[in-house]
Amino acid sequence: MALYEFDGKRPHVPVDSFVHPDAVLIGDVKIGHECLIAPGVSIRADFGPVVIGNRSNVQDNAVIHVYPDSRVIIEEDVTVAHGVILHDAHIKSRCVIGIGAIVLFNVVCEEDVFVSVGSIVPKGMHIPAGKIVAGNPAKITHDVTDDQKMMAKAGIDYYRDLCKKYLATMKAIT
Ligand SMILES: CC(C)(COP(=O)(O)OP(=O)(O)OC[C@H]1O[C@@H](n2cnc3c(N)ncnc32)[C@H](O)[C@@H]1OP(=O)(O)O)[C@@H](O)C(=O)NCCC(=O)NCCS
Repeated sequence: MALYEFDGKRPHVPVDSFVHPDAVLIGDVKIGHECLIAPGVSIRADFGPVVIGNRSNVQDNAVIHVYPDSRVIIEEDVTVAHGVILHDAHIKSRCVIGIGAIVLFNVVCEEDVFVSVGSIVPKGMHIPAGKIVAGNPAKITHDVTDDQKMMAKAGIDYYRDLCKKYLATMKAIT
């Protein structure tokens, strides 16, 4: 794993979480249990902490960074999809941050929020629980349905299984 101590702080990754060797975690990063951090992810906790809760996944090429005196918090059962950029955001439990979304400074996503693919969530936006936002700048479009919540939960369960499989079977072959 590409884990780097910085300014006396080291990433913490429990043994039941998987961090791909091509992900880079620097400094004050805390990963919860049964998380999957995919190839190409950069979590740079040099100016402040990044905390990721149990069963959350961060997919390929996502970038997470923090301004000085700030932090990123991703709570439990959250999906951060491919190519997302998160800066100083607080993502509460069961949110789905869609592919390629950009979530800017001091955004708060309450529980069960969906950020649509490719959206740009402007700084300081506080998204109430159970809302879908889309577009640039992102606006609330409608409510997350019960079916969508079930799909989000299924996605989390797939990634928990994937995490176990990666831990058990992945081998570098060159
Ligand atoms: C949030 C999401 C679930 C909404 O899906 P949905 O409820 O089926 O929404 P619809 O496709 O019916 O679109 C509803 C409205 O929002 C708009 N919209 C949807 N996605 C949008 C986007 N990314 N940007 C801008 N507008 C969008 C649609 O044009 C539509 O507008 P209208 O009502 O004026 O016609 C889906 O857009 C999405 O982004 N899912 C995340 C997928 C993902 O990245 N998963 C992780 C994979 S690893």
